Amino acid sequence: MFSAATTANPATSIITELLYDGEKLNLPSPIDEYFLLSKAGRSIKERLKAVKEELPKIIEEYRRKRKDKKVLIGNLGSGPGRDVIEVLASHYFNISDVRAIHIDKDGFALERGKLMAQIKKVNHLIEFVKGNFLKYKPSKKFDIILLIGILCSLDFGTCVIILKKVKKFLKKDGCLIVSNVSKKMLEEDPFTYHLMSLGNWKMVFKDEKEIFRKAGYKVKRYFTDSYGFHIMCIGTPRSYF
Ligand SMILES: C[S@@+](CC[C@H](N)C(=O)[O-])C[C@H]1O[C@@H](n2cnc3c(N)ncnc32)[C@H](O)[C@@H]1O
Repeated sequence: MFSAATTANPATSIITELLYDGEKLNLPSPIDEYFLLSKAGRSIKERLKAVKEELPKIIEEYRRKRKDKKVLIGNLGSGPGRDVIEVLASHYFNISDVRAIHIDKDGFALERGKLMAQIKKVNHLIEFVKGNFLKYKPSKKFDIILLIGILCSLDFGTCVIILKKVKKFLKKDGCLIVSNVSKKMLEEDPFTYHLMSLGNWKMVFKDEKEIFRKAGYKVKRYFTDSYGFHIMCIGTPRSYF
């Protein structure tokens, strides 16, 4: 099942959503079940947990910086955008100053996100935009941009191009939070790593510090999921070109 989904769309959020929520489901094959319960599979759910823990701290940092307390988050390649929806629902449902725009090319993922946001009563805080985020023309620049689960399968040069493009959507003192898969996944769970590769989900390992440096960002800090399989790097624009 995982492999059918990635063959149809290699970057699909169907997989990430299943890893976040799939334990309640009866998966069709033992291999799907294995992947869901493997360290590599669980690390993706742990990545979501880590983002949900760190994002409120980063939002608060920007609320303190802004006189009007307004913070705008761009969730690029959001899928449904469960991370931001759950953070807004648990911390900011009654504060209309913290808002988000979720951009994804997959209309079905956005519909799912709209439903999630309605259920969590934060739909008034989130705009859902269908399209390629690389071609997005923002009317307002973002304080915080999330790029989670986007770079894992891309080569170094493509990642640099993406980070350069999204820099134009950020305020000068805004920050970009990017997830990058670590070699630790291959070292500590090689079987699942190879299973994922066979299932058309091939990880490409690269150094996030180098990507940020080449794309013109200053690295502020990092955090990881509990397995250390995903590194979330936070950076601010060093230059605008
Ligand atoms: C693996 S999912 C990750 C979803 C979400 N960020 C998360 O962490 O759960 C990757 C998502 O990025 C979207 N995506 C990839 N490249 C994109 C692009 N250039 N423009 C818009 N969406 C894109 C895919 O459609 C997919 O929903």
